[in-house]
Amino acid sequence: MRTDKRTDTAPERTSAAAPTAPGRLPLAGHAPWLHRDALRFVGELRRHGPVAKIYIGPRPVHVLNSGELVRELLTVRARSFDKGAMFDALRVPLGDGLITAAGDRHLRHRRMMQPAFHHDRIARYARVMAERAQARSAAWEPGTTRDLMPDIHRLTLDILLGTLFAHPQDPGLRPAVKDWLTVKYHSMRLALSPLHAWAEHVPLLRGWRPPDPGPLRRLVAVQRRIVETYRADGRDRGDLLSMLLLADGPDGALTDAEVTDELITLFLAGTGTVSAALAWALHEISRRPGVQRRLHDELDTVLAGRPPGFEHLPALLHTRRILTETLRLHPPSWLLMRRAVQPVRLGGVRFAPGDEVFFSPYALHRDPHLYEDPERFDPERWPRDGAVRTPRHTYLPFGAGSRLCIGEDFAWTELTLALAALTAHRRITPADDAPVRPLVGTVLRPDRLLLTGHPRNPS
Ligand code: HEM
Repeated sequence: MRTDKRTDTAPERTSAAAPTAPGRLPLAGHAPWLHRDALRFVGELRRHGPVAKIYIGPRPVHVLNSGELVRELLTVRARSFDKGAMFDALRVPLGDGLITAAGDRHLRHRRMMQPAFHHDRIARYARVMAERAQARSAAWEPGTTRDLMPDIHRLTLDILLGTLFAHPQDPGLRPAVKDWLTVKYHSMRLALSPLHAWAEHVPLLRGWRPPDPGPLRRLVAVQRRIVETYRADGRDRGDLLSMLLLADGPDGALTDAEVTDELITLFLAGTGTVSAALAWALHEISRRPGVQRRLHDELDTVLAGRPPGFEHLPALLHTRRILTETLRLHPPSWLLMRRAVQPVRLGGVRFAPGDEVFFSPYALHRDPHLYEDPERFDPERWPRDGAVRTPRHTYLPFGAGSRLCIGEDFAWTELTLALAALTAHRRITPADDAPVRPLVGTVLRPDRLLLTGHPRNPS
């Protein structure tokens, strides 16, 4: 791991002096470059120093290229920023859950939801995760080639449904969630895109594909029915929903409408991200026999033929290193943003209320000042002894500070159990030589995942 020295020596600058990245076009600004090859564009911005200015259409956005500055933004300066225009837009299809909530509402919901993600609860959810992952693995016939992407989506949705609702007796739930997730991706693509600000100025795009409110309405109706059933007996069913309903704070419990918003937020935050990470992990190990051999050695020793469970997690160190490296090289949340809510100075730049700031975990994680040979997938770059310690300002797949992913431990548990279940009894290889490219959307995922699973007997 390298130390980022650049910010220590960065000269104080005024806003006007922050360098504008080359390639700004009349009207469109840098939007076409972002649209054409966003990952390359954000990666190259570091050449212009710790803070670079880009224009999305007519709007300036400052991009932070230094881990120290990102850390400062997310921690000590966090109160001076909210999440920004894109998240305002997201409140329409999503409601106002933890991801979009600001200020006191965010603080209150965060405190009330935290117990649902405590270690002892995750241990309970792990049973559901392990069982669903085992079932999905069993459905992959030995010796066959599969497009794993739909399997992975199904698995992460099964796990989220199973951990949110221990007793999903309502038969309408699954189809309602699936419909909503499908529509959601279309309706939110623009809201979440870095081009959102630009699109606001382009009437054709502004009117682009208005979201169909039907699926959201149906999903909310099913959730309300489930919430009523739960409220009727007030029991803790060991699931996430019970925790949301039991949560209490100085201002009282969450209302039914607030609970519904949070459930929808969890569907959004807890499926696509995990699917992308698991897909990238399988993609990487399918191309690296050495990494896979070490994985198998570890799984054979630790599991000794048993299905993976929560109790095995502390010993699955190489598995965890593979996932740590996967989230470094392919962070699903590749671009994050904030908006100043009061005058604030950061990296020598003065921000006025309304000014927007972007930073890219993807670009930071591939910065050669921070990681040696950053483009190389190498789980061995992470320490072997004990839990993997990740540097908090240079390793940001889950963000940091008060908006740190509340589902981080949930995600590590799910990813580790799923990767172990899917690989313990098979060796995986790519089914062909076709290149796999990153698909840049609301999350970053591989555009294809065609793998062959060769049967193996754990030694
Ligand atoms: C590999 C999987 C995941 C990744 C990479 C990921 C990434 C992130 C990131 C980067 C943030 C912070 C965004 C920001 O600062 O603007 C975030 C927030 C959040 N994540 Fe995750 N996440 C993952 C899995 C999950 C899961 C499984 C859940 C829930 C079951 C979840 C729920 C949330 C919620 C509710 C927030 C908002 C937290 C707040 O603002 O207080 N995430 N996630």
